[in-house]
Amino acid sequence: MTKIFLDTASADEIREFLSRGIGDGVTSNQKIFLAEGKVDFKQRVLEICAMRNDWPVSVETTTKGFDELVAEARLYAQWHRNVVVKVAMDKDGTGLKVVKKLHDEGIRTNMTVMVTLGQLFLAAKAGATYVSLFFNRARDAGLDPVKTIRDVTPALRRLGGAELIVGSIRKPEDVEEIVAAGADIATITPKVLNQMAFHPKTEETIKEFDDAWKEFVAKNKLAVPARVPLGAP
Ligand code: E4P
Repeated sequence: MTKIFLDTASADEIREFLSRGIGDGVTSNQKIFLAEGKVDFKQRVLEICAMRNDWPVSVETTTKGFDELVAEARLYAQWHRNVVVKVAMDKDGTGLKVVKKLHDEGIRTNMTVMVTLGQLFLAAKAGATYVSLFFNRARDAGLDPVKTIRDVTPALRRLGGAELIVGSIRKPEDVEEIVAAGADIATITPKVLNQMAFHPKTEETIKEFDDAWKEFVAKNKLAVPARVPLGAP
């Protein structure tokens, strides 16, 4: 089954979704942290890492150049064993070199901002633990990300390494397409996760059942069952 990662750096939202049984990992990036406002970056990463045992928490590198990126990645990886370092794909191959180096050092990576099968394939070959396809950004570029998911998934299996994360999800219908195409992981924002839980027909049905029950209770002069407090034996 497709795993769900939480595409947010909000500790409160992550705790909320974990309490609903949702969240196999976390992804973040510079824009996601910007949306958090004033926040201690390292403390927030550590707080999220500590919320579950052995769950992957992607933290994106922000520097440029091979040496700088490797140093930044090593720093984040030392913070907590759950950190997975995000490295951007780029046209000159620096990102791939960084991913290979980190792989050789045993540091897990998530190669990111990719929109084509070719990019995903190169990232997996370089030794990325996760390869990230940006679903709607691919569509914005006139590409077919559903076909990419279908085509790359068996290729990744044959390589026997990287898992596919699909991000840049804007609406519940995207998730339906991504799951049907067989992606390993969908990384989803709290906003879209909340939209996924809602349907007006479901709400209408709940109201119909509630009204029916009120009528039944009234007709049968039924005593409403006493609430059993949580935690009672
Ligand atoms: C995935 O890892 C990214 O955080 C994310 O999904 C980016 O998508 P967007 O910038 O198009 O919203």
